[in-house]
Amino acid sequence: MDYEDVMKLALERGFYFPSCEVYADAQAGFWEYGPSGVGLKNKFLELWRRELIRRDGMLEIDGSQIMSKSVFKASGHLGNFADPIIKCAKCNSTFRADRTIADISGIEIPESADLIEFDSAILQNNIKCPKCKGDFDKTKHFNMMFKVGIGPEEEEAYLRPETCQSIFIDFPRLFKTMRGKLPLGIAQVGKSFRNEIAPRQSLLRLREFYQAEIEVFCNPSKLDEMEKFSEIQDVVIRVQTDADPVSMTCKKAVESGIIPNKLVAYYLGILTEFYEKTGIDITKSRFRKLGDKEKAFYAEVAFDFEVETTIGWLELVACNYRSDYDLSSHAKKSKEKFDVMDNDEKVLPHVFEISMGIDRSLYTILEHSLKDDKEHERTVLALKPYLSPVHVGILSLVKKDGLKEKTDEVYLKIRRKCDAFLDHSGAIGRRYRRLDEIGSPFAITVDHQTLEDETVTIRMRDSMEQKRIRISELDSIVIQSIAFP
Ligand code: GLY
Repeated sequence: MDYEDVMKLALERGFYFPSCEVYADAQAGFWEYGPSGVGLKNKFLELWRRELIRRDGMLEIDGSQIMSKSVFKASGHLGNFADPIIKCAKCNSTFRADRTIADISGIEIPESADLIEFDSAILQNNIKCPKCKGDFDKTKHFNMMFKVGIGPEEEEAYLRPETCQSIFIDFPRLFKTMRGKLPLGIAQVGKSFRNEIAPRQSLLRLREFYQAEIEVFCNPSKLDEMEKFSEIQDVVIRVQTDADPVSMTCKKAVESGIIPNKLVAYYLGILTEFYEKTGIDITKSRFRKLGDKEKAFYAEVAFDFEVETTIGWLELVACNYRSDYDLSSHAKKSKEKFDVMDNDEKVLPHVFEISMGIDRSLYTILEHSLKDDKEHERTVLALKPYLSPVHVGILSLVKKDGLKEKTDEVYLKIRRKCDAFLDHSGAIGRRYRRLDEIGSPFAITVDHQTLEDETVTIRMRDSMEQKRIRISELDSIVIQSIAFP
């Protein structure tokens, strides 16, 4: 199933849809999650917390979305966080230079290349405005942060373009008050904002989007002193440094020098384990090492975790070794101390970042889970049971003869323990299909026999097998199957 199938499902089954859609001036790049999308997102984040945050006793914070200008002067975003843009001299339409050149001529120029490279490619390949065939002005940089004015004086501030800046700024306080010890992971989930020139493909390039970021503060002289490395040394990761991704254990990746140290390999290993549990086909993944021109301006070494989908490879996580770039510049700008004690050694920690795009991850889970079951003429969202927005549908075969009341009774019993969906109306086959499409692993049907012997029919989403079970067995069958691994 492809992008269009996922989009259809998203719109029809309440996963996501465009923001402000009833108005003609609705802006591109803003999407809303419906109830099914929120259910999936919350469960994805619960898995993230279990597999990454709680596993290592990381700290989670919830910072402001609007931050002062000084933050972004220090972080480098005011100076460097810009896309190359080209404007048509005839019709004034603006485009991303790198994308337009790639779309028209197939030439790939990294977005961080010198502006002159874009101008030369436009000239040499006679690239014209896709709308009116006019000539382009010279390529310029466009800063992607959204500026906001605070108070009546409209003091300059910005919506954060990445969640991690508050983690960096809060680090000294958190290290002290939470009695931190290096290496220390600090995490944050929340919205970030980027004024994309060409938002597109629904959740894949948004102007307002969710990130789940982890910043691991570490002593740069101890990157190979990672006690927990033994826990993941045999986990197989797929790494791409040149042509094709190569599968290897984390141990081999470090020994061969492909991954620079045990600390980085440890996090790539646990990230792989996490994504495997989301149901994404991990054989279609890779950690792609970025070249110097592709890396973000703050990254010393960068691996993008990418997954293959029907619309190409998608970057789901940026894994950046940011060195002391952020802490040293915030220390300089704020004149506060950011160095801490690591046993008897005073260090300014380095940072390894695991910056996850939640929206793209959810899209990829949906695409990899969506199946066209031709034999039974149905679409099935084969989500892992613990990620499913609805765990169980509770259906009455018919409403009359006391079946509605009995069904309500079963629903009321189970709904505190899991996400149950009560449905009394429509043909039973169609109700099963709808549950299949939102990924509900189970459907329970209450019928006349239920009134006699307290049994119900349970139907399994994937096999479509149906069995008669006692209502008292629901806990052991349904509740146990939806437990997180
Ligand atoms: N913090 C890295 C990013 O937002 O891309």
